[in-house]
Parts: sequence; C-alpha cells; structure tokens
Amino acid sequence: MVGRQTSGVAMVQGVIGNQDVIGNGDVIDEGVIDEGVVSNDGSRARPGPLTGRTALVTGATSGIGRAVVLRLAAAGAQVVATGRDAAALTELDAAARAAGSVPGQVTGHPADLTDPGHLERLVTAVRTRTGRLDLLVHSAGAFHRAELAGAPLADLDRSYQVNLRAPYALTQALLADLEAAGRDAGRDAVGDVPRRDAVGDVVFVNSSQGLTAGAGTSQYAATKHGLRAVADSLRAELSGSAIRICTIYPGRTATPMQERVAALEGQPYDPTHLMRPEDVADLVVAVVSLPGRTEVPEVVMRPTIRR
Ligand SMILES: NC(=O)c1ccc[n+]([C@@H]2O[C@H](COP(=O)([O-])OP(=O)(O)OC[C@H]3O[C@@H](n4cnc5c(N)ncnc54)[C@H](OP(=O)(O)O)[C@@H]3O)[C@@H](O)[C@H]2O)c1
Repeated sequence: MVGRQTSGVAMVQGVIGNQDVIGNGDVIDEGVIDEGVVSNDGSRARPGPLTGRTALVTGATSGIGRAVVLRLAAAGAQVVATGRDAAALTELDAAARAAGSVPGQVTGHPADLTDPGHLERLVTAVRTRTGRLDLLVHSAGAFHRAELAGAPLADLDRSYQVNLRAPYALTQALLADLEAAGRDAGRDAVGDVPRRDAVGDVVFVNSSQGLTAGAGTSQYAATKHGLRAVADSLRAELSGSAIRICTIYPGRTATPMQERVAALEGQPYDPTHLMRPEDVADLVVAVVSLPGRTEVPEVVMRPTIRR
C-alpha cells in the first residue's frame, strides 16, 4: 500500500493483478496483488437517514454488495467498500458520486478475503478511514456447483474461506469497534433503549441454500448453513448488547453470480423474474435504519414467480 498526495487530495493506491489502480483512474504496471484505499479526499458524507454512520461492505465490486454500497451512500452513510477488483471499486466510487455522494464518501479498499494479511490491513484501513464502524455487511461469496461424488476438495476449501472463514474473522476483528459505536452514541432518554444511531449492525447476506440444500450445492450450502450458525450463535452471545445481527436469505437474484449458476445448471440465463440486487440492498437499508430498540434477526426473500 502506497500513499501519495495529488492536488491536495490524499490518494492511496491498490494493486490487483498486473495493474495498479488509483482513485483518479490512473493505471500503473505492477506484478502483485496488493491492497489500499482507492480514493479519499476527506470530504464529509451528504445528509440522509444514515448520516454519521459508517459501514464496511464486502463483495462490493459486484451484484448485491455493490447495490448495498450505493444504497447506503444514498442514505448518507460513509462506506468502505471491498473486493479484489480494484478497477470495479474505482468505478463504484464514480457511480456513487454520479448518484450524488460527496467525494470520499465511498472509499474502495481492494482485498482478497482469503488472505489473512489482506484481512488485517482491511481492518486497519477501516479504522484509519472512518475512525468508527457502525455497520458491517458481509456480501462476498463464492459459488461452486458439483455433485459430492466428483466435487474437487479445493473448491470446498475455497468456499469455506470466502463464505465462512472470512466473515467470521472480519466480524471477530471488528466487534469491539461495533460495540464502541453503540457505547459512544448513548441511549434514548425515554425507555433506556439504544437509539437508532446507537447500535452496531452486522448483516450476513446468506442464501436460501443456507436453509435448505439442493442437489449439487453441498459445498456452497454447507458453508451457508455454517454462516447461519455463526450469526445465530453471535446473536445469542450479544443479547443485551447494542449490536444487532441480521441474516438475509435471498433467493435467485439477477447478478453475475446467478448468471454463472444458470450456466453451471445448463440453463439459459433469464433475469426477467429474478429479484434485483437493489431489492436486497433496500432491505439492508431498511433493517439498519430501524429504531435501536428493534432487531430483525432473519429475513427470507425470494422471487414472487419461481420456475
Ligand atoms: N445472486 C443470487 O442469486 C444469490 C442468491 C442467494 C445468495 N446470494 C449471496 O449473495 C452474496 C452476493 O452474491 P452476488 O450474487 O452479488 O455475487 P457476485 O455478483 O458474484 O459478487 C460476489 C462478490 O464477492 C466477492 N468475492 C468473491 N471472492 C472474494 C475474495 N476471495 N475476496 C474478496 N472478495 C471476494 C467478489 O469480488 P471480487 O471478484 O472483486 O473479489 C464480488 O464482489 C453472496 O454471498 C451470495 O452467496 C446470491
């Protein structure tokens, strides 16, 4: 990670593959995967219902995670967005600004969540960038399809790393920050319950496969079942604290992952009747915007018309 000063704006570069992408779109040849804050000019977030709250969103380079970043930013939150694709993070920053976010409100930090060093530096970047953390949204996910008889064990290991170990480790590393956000904001004068802005929120984007496993999904479904257990156990551990845990179980949603799923199933990809990533993102914003006295532990979402 390398910091630099450009026209009075602090820029920190990130490197993915052979290209080093910085916030202004410059590309520099490099040969390694590295990570860093893509853009940061220190501007304050625009006003909205989530103004003053800060978020980390994984899986932000695509699909549901990307939509969550844009919706949170539109609601006024300051967001650190992460994924491996640095160019997509730069594009996301531009998309947020085009939608009305102020410069620096969405900050990209490229990271491979299967790399412990990247996880560590992501946590440091969140603290450096925002100074506090109110919302943690886990949307990064990996999907492999194969019947158990012939499934490569390496795919099982990768599914575990991305879908289960990474959200577990990241939540563990940032739990104290989420708790501090709750403590700092205090409680309502009436009722002695946490104010809406006095809670930390962790949202796990799970899957319908985290509730019921279908044929050919043992690896993905097993990790998603495990993620449900992590969320349930954590919620029980934190009862009485000002941290809310929400698991969302989406059904088929029109994203690049669903396009891959259709190809693996040997089906044509037709998003007509699928949910949109923005539908899941709207739910995330609704859940974290509720008064602090109210927790939404689980939500199942699915397309109205199923084939
Ligand atoms: N789409 C659906 O129908 C559906 C249904 C139910 C549940 N879900 C769940 O929803 C979540 C989002 O899925 P999606 O449909 O939006 O998928 P997607 O479009 O394929 O996006 C997946 C995201 O995960 C990130 N990711 C994957 N491996 C990573 C790694 N090693 N390190 C860091 N980031 C990594 C990707 O970023 P990079 O490639 O830049 O690293 C990307 O941003 C997933 O957890 C998925 O299981 C999706």
